[in-house]
Amino acid sequence: MLYDNAKAICPGSFDPVTNGHVDIIERAAQLFPTVVVGVLKNSNKKPLFSVEERVDLLKSVLSHLPNVEVLSFSGLLVDFVSQVKGKLIVKGLRAISDFEIEFQMALNNKRMAPNIETMFMMTKNEYSFLSSSMVKEIAQYGGDIHDLVPAQVEAALHGKYKLMQV
Ligand code: PNS
Repeated sequence: MLYDNAKAICPGSFDPVTNGHVDIIERAAQLFPTVVVGVLKNSNKKPLFSVEERVDLLKSVLSHLPNVEVLSFSGLLVDFVSQVKGKLIVKGLRAISDFEIEFQMALNNKRMAPNIETMFMMTKNEYSFLSSSMVKEIAQYGGDIHDLVPAQVEAALHGKYKLMQV
């Protein structure tokens, strides 16, 4: 049976959203009728952007995709997927280094919620080196990030680091 009536969930911290994330979400939006982007609130990492800021940036960056909704969640991902009546989790895989942790998460999620599938999409070659933390570090020290993140995110990052210098 194909997922022709399914809601796919793209979860993450999105601190902040990068072009790599946008690529995966755009591709998921072409494959599934509805995509819910789930922004994790209770991250162990201390985020640079508040959850409201991360959600607003995602909404702005994804506004050209009518079948994509952006929501925040806390607690377990599988509970969030069930709450929004989702059927599967879609994630991007960059390099082999992603594989181990993603494999672990997928198996643990499968154990807790056998009906929810996790699917992976290979990231585009040009984004395989890209991560939110790298982008933050480059932006913090004044490096060029214009081809790594959407323009709104670039402006938001510059705003954050300028404020921190004051
Ligand atoms: O962008 P990230 O930080 O790689 O996203 C990780 C995320 C949000 C997908 C993951 O941390 C997650 O699912 N957190 C929710 C808590 C949870 O369900 N933990 C058990 C997973 S086995």
